[in-house]
Amino acid sequence: MTILVVGATGMTGHPLVEQLLGRGHKVRVVVRSIDKLSAQARAHPNLTILEAAILDLSDTALLDLVKDCNAVVSCLGHVINFKGLFGDPKKLCTDATQRLCKAIQSNGGLEPTKFILMNSVGVKNPDCREKRTWVERGLLALLRATLPPHLDNEAAAEMLHANIGQTNPAIEWSSVRPDTLINGPVSSYELKTSPVTGIFSGRPTTRANVAHFMVALIENAQLWDEWKFKMPVIMNATQTL
Ligand SMILES: NC(=O)c1ccc[n+]([C@@H]2O[C@H](COP(=O)([O-])OP(=O)(O)OC[C@H]3O[C@@H](n4cnc5c(N)ncnc54)[C@H](OP(=O)(O)O)[C@@H]3O)[C@@H](O)[C@H]2O)c1
Repeated sequence: MTILVVGATGMTGHPLVEQLLGRGHKVRVVVRSIDKLSAQARAHPNLTILEAAILDLSDTALLDLVKDCNAVVSCLGHVINFKGLFGDPKKLCTDATQRLCKAIQSNGGLEPTKFILMNSVGVKNPDCREKRTWVERGLLALLRATLPPHLDNEAAAEMLHANIGQTNPAIEWSSVRPDTLINGPVSSYELKTSPVTGIFSGRPTTRANVAHFMVALIENAQLWDEWKFKMPVIMNATQTL
């Protein structure tokens, strides 16, 4: 399959590209700096690299990028420093999602393209009655008021949910919601429709597991049917002693 990954130089983008290449897929990436990709990935014959900031690309360039892609995955996230959190582009994830979806729709392939958005457990699934405690609601209101990236994650998920919807002939989507991201190898993990232990439980998820789930969504039609148009919450499985 052919897959476009944006945010490929990030902590989740890295294992995602590695796993996709390891499974024989053709991978396209748009990166701000080629040097941030591993030497192994850079030398891989199945990797096509475009060095640019995704939002600087013209609509025509985006059309070329998504052409013939079976899936597009966004692992974009704001860099955790003052400029990344409070500077432009404040709507990095939303604008990239919106423009990539527009390009996919303009191309209009025979089969719908899978769009997988890396999102956050702090973003509510409007289709589920996800209950939040007063403490969680207070903390989220604080995040919304002080941290633009949280609003961006909410708006990107809403873009897919409301604007693309479930009957778009060109795009099917899934918004993957990890809790606290950690580094570590692929291990067993759980998938839930909604958070089970509260949204600030600190139940960790390795980035490699998030990547693993995204690859499985792309490859496995049954898994895709289970999670398309949903916002799966992914958590590492609890250890039993
Ligand atoms: N941290 C957590 O515990 C947690 C939990 C749940 C969900 N999330 C969400 O998961 C997502 C990704 O997390 P991560 O840890 O894998 O992210 P990350 O390591 O910070 O990677 C972010 C990616 O976005 C790219 N990027 C940032 N600003 C950009 C810009 N202006 N233009 C183009 N590309 C840009 C980065 O490119 P460069 O390498 O060029 O900077 C990098 O490839 C985020 O949306 C985050 O909100 C995080």
